[in-house]
Amino acid sequence: MSLDNKVAIVTGAGRGIGEAISRKLAADGATVVCADVNVDDAGRVARDCGQGAWASPLDVAQAEACDRLISAVTDRHKRLDILVNNAGINRDAMLHKMTDEQWHQVIAVDLTGVFFMTRAASRVMRTAGSGRIINISSASWMGNIGQANYSAAKAGVLGLTRTAARELARSQVTVNAICPGFIDTAMTRGIPDQIRDQQVAKIPLGRPGQPADVAAVVAFLASDEAGYITAEVINVGGGYVI
Ligand code: NAI
Repeated sequence: MSLDNKVAIVTGAGRGIGEAISRKLAADGATVVCADVNVDDAGRVARDCGQGAWASPLDVAQAEACDRLISAVTDRHKRLDILVNNAGINRDAMLHKMTDEQWHQVIAVDLTGVFFMTRAASRVMRTAGSGRIINISSASWMGNIGQANYSAAKAGVLGLTRTAARELARSQVTVNAICPGFIDTAMTRGIPDQIRDQQVAKIPLGRPGQPADVAAVVAFLASDEAGYITAEVINVGGGYVI
C-alpha cells in the first residue's frame, strides 16, 4: 500500500502515537505535516520523517489556528489527502474531585480540537471529492474510573466520526476512528506502577501496545485500499475490549 503523492496532517505529532503515525505515513510515501503545541518535538519528528515533511506549531483547541494550518497546507501543496486527529491530553481525577478546569481542558483538546480540525479539513476535502480523516479515540470511551472528562471527550469523538462519515460520504471522504487500548507512551508512563500492572494484566495478548501498532492501522485506513471503509471504529488494544 503506497501513500505516494499524498499530503497528510498529523496532530500531536511530536511524540508517542502521533510520532509513530508520522513516521509510518512518511515511510509509506506521504508528505507529512507534523503539527503539535510543542513545535520543537514536531520539528525533530519532521526532520526524521524526510519525504518533504515539515512541522507547524498548532494548538488544536484554537479554531483560528486550525483554519490557518489547513490554509497553509493547501497553499503550499494544493491538496490535503489525510488528516489524523491524534492530539490528546488527560487530566485524570475522580468525578467528585474533578475541577472545572480539568473538565474544560480535556474537552477543549480531545473533542473540540477534533471538531475544529475536521471542520476545516472537510471544506477542502469536499471540494476535492476525496480524503481520509482518522480520529484517535480511546478504549476509555466506554467509561473508565478517574476519566470522566476523557471518556466523555473520546465518546464524543465517536459520535463526531459517525456524523462526519455520513455527511462526507457523498464527497468520497472516509472518516474512521481508532480506539487504542493501553499503549506504551509518555501518557501511560505517568500512571502509578500498581495501576499500570493491573491494566496490562487485563490485556489478552499479554503486553502493552506500541505506538507502531496504532500507526499501522492508521496507514491502512489512509490508503486507497481502505476506500470502502467509513464510520468504523477499530480497537487496537490486544483484545482489551472483547
Ligand atoms: P502523548 O502525551 O505521548 O503525546 C500527545 C502529543 O499531543 C504531544 O506531543 C503533545 O504535545 C500533543 N498535544 C497536546 N495537546 C495538544 C494541543 N492542544 N494541540 C496540539 N498538540 C497537542 O500521548 P499519546 O499516548 O501518544 O496519545 C496520542 C493519542 O492517543 C491521544 O489522543 C490519546 O488520548 C490517545 N490514546 C492514547 C492511549 C495510550 O495508552 N497512550 C490509549 C488510548 C488513546
